[in-house]
Amino acid sequence: MKVEKVMVIGAGQMGGGIAQVFATAGYPVYLHDLKEEYIKKGTAVIQKNLARQVEKERMSQEQASGIMARIHPSTDLQNAKVVDLVVEAAIENMDIKSKLFAELDEIAPKHAILASNTSALPITEIAANTKRPEQVIGMHFMNPVPVMKLVEVIRGLATSDEVYETIETLSKDLDKVPVEVNDSPGFVSNRILMPMINEAIFTLYEGVASKEDIDSVMKLGMNHPMGPLTLADFIGLDTCLYIMEALHEGFGDDKYRPCPLLRKYVKAGWLGKKSGRGFYCYE
Ligand code: CAA
Repeated sequence: MKVEKVMVIGAGQMGGGIAQVFATAGYPVYLHDLKEEYIKKGTAVIQKNLARQVEKERMSQEQASGIMARIHPSTDLQNAKVVDLVVEAAIENMDIKSKLFAELDEIAPKHAILASNTSALPITEIAANTKRPEQVIGMHFMNPVPVMKLVEVIRGLATSDEVYETIETLSKDLDKVPVEVNDSPGFVSNRILMPMINEAIFTLYEGVASKEDIDSVMKLGMNHPMGPLTLADFIGLDTCLYIMEALHEGFGDDKYRPCPLLRKYVKAGWLGKKSGRGFYCYE
């Protein structure tokens, strides 16, 4: 199956990055969100990213303008009528995703693939809201999307081989490296990454070391580009908590219990970089 037109749902950090990557690879993209102001915010970030590329002489101004011209703002889900692929990157809430996928199933053409960028929700359950579960798949990009090479391609219970292969080929066309993963709590990325971050938070909570020193151990000792607490702030502490809860519930194993300090920070509204304060303070 050939994908020519795409809709990305959610103009936030992930959705904006996904739209940028599709438009850079030459695909016309609807960038859909509930309000125009969200889309404006998302496209401003894309514009800034592209301006940096132009400044560094990695792309011409014409190329950057061409990429922006391929991104079409949308606040009407009916635009999904003309696309071959929808990549949903909305809020991580099963009720919202269920409703969205049921609506998309009614609107999108029969052949269209419905993908979710969820970081932890079961693809099989999302697919069950549609009459085309064989055409529902996980397409999990990493943050920052324009920089990170990986796409976890997650097969739901009913995902067809043809749909898997289409998304695998498409991911390569986006200059990404696809990895095949079966539907399981946290997939591969967050099953491994989040318990490490949670353990770093326990280490801080128990007073074993300062936040800076915990981060230094992992940066200088393990060559991680960011320490785990800096990374948690970057991902968003609400997202980290939500993923730990999905692992805890999905496996029913207390080894995945979220650290109380993580819960406390989220309750305080200290969500990391996006809220100006998490383990660290941001301007
Ligand atoms: N958007 C677009 N580009 C960005 C960016 C952003 N938010 N942040 C950095 N970049 C670009 C910079 O422009 C720079 O590009 P050039 O080399 O072309 O100039 C490049 O990335 C490197 O940036 P910096 O030199 O400023 O900083 P750095 O070398 O420290 O790299 C980083 C920044 C790429 C974010 C690096 O710190 C890193 O890899 N961190 C770990 C990121 C990570 O683990 N991501 C996965 C999170 S988990 C996830 O996403 C899944 C989930 O479900 C939770």
